[in-house]
Amino acid sequence: MREWTILGAGALGCTFAALLREKGNAVSLLLNERHRGHFHPALEFIALNERRRLVETHTRFADQAAGIDCLLVLTKAYQVLPALTSLRGLSANTPVILLHNGMGVAEQVASALPHNPLLAGVTSHGALKEGPWQVRHTGKGETWLGPVNDKGKAFAHLTKALAGALGHAEWNEDIVSLQHRKLAINAVINPLTACHHIHNGQLHEPRFADVLDQLSEEVHSVLAQLGETETLTQFRRRLHSVIELTATNYSSMHQDLAHGRPTEIDYITGYVLRHAGRLPVPVCRQLYNEVKKQGG
Ligand code: PAF
Repeated sequence: MREWTILGAGALGCTFAALLREKGNAVSLLLNERHRGHFHPALEFIALNERRRLVETHTRFADQAAGIDCLLVLTKAYQVLPALTSLRGLSANTPVILLHNGMGVAEQVASALPHNPLLAGVTSHGALKEGPWQVRHTGKGETWLGPVNDKGKAFAHLTKALAGALGHAEWNEDIVSLQHRKLAINAVINPLTACHHIHNGQLHEPRFADVLDQLSEEVHSVLAQLGETETLTQFRRRLHSVIELTATNYSSMHQDLAHGRPTEIDYITGYVLRHAGRLPVPVCRQLYNEVKKQGG
């Protein structure tokens, strides 16, 4: 691997860039056209131990896609397809790794870029943008990658370089299952915290006990219908532990709604609704409508 190119210079994209640079990897940030001529060549990274440092990366724009060796996609779910289809000259040999939240995008990318090796992943690293080109790493997590198409299967070795920088990265052929597990957590925490304007830990207040029970059951039943084997009890245990571990965080959907940005609701709750079939999912539907009503 000569260079990692990161599409999505948000909190997580910049954190990945900083961690990869720290271990000596070449990294470029693929930036939106509006940053041409404006981007300061260094971003400020605040590590978990509070150490601040400037990280230097190369920059690229959509018209420089031809030289990309490996593309890590860390944009919002709804930005993935427009951003990828704007990359003129992206080689069909370039592996594309989708690390956004939510699901339903990989299928669209697979038909838009039918010849590229396509991988998807989930990560539980936490990061926060503190200012323009200033990011804070808020939590060390795990990162899993797996293939979306046959060509993607030849890129398991990428996890080794990522593990060196991120602390953990592993390969799993059944990446959809890990994506479902993450989506299930997001489908409960994100719309509830966004609609009620609360941080994650407030979901443990008694007033949310009933809605948490109902919503977790709805989400679990849809994923079980899709073949996932985690029991409802196991799912609820995992959910409560994520709520506890991220108690002081505002969820990404809460932050998006609070800042008037589009949310990823179509790729989180929307995914659950699209796969519900005949299963009743009234709470999911109500939260979906409420987030949309609030502008998300
Ligand atoms: O989307 C998010 O905010 C995070 O995935 C999670 C786990 C809900 C924590 O805030």
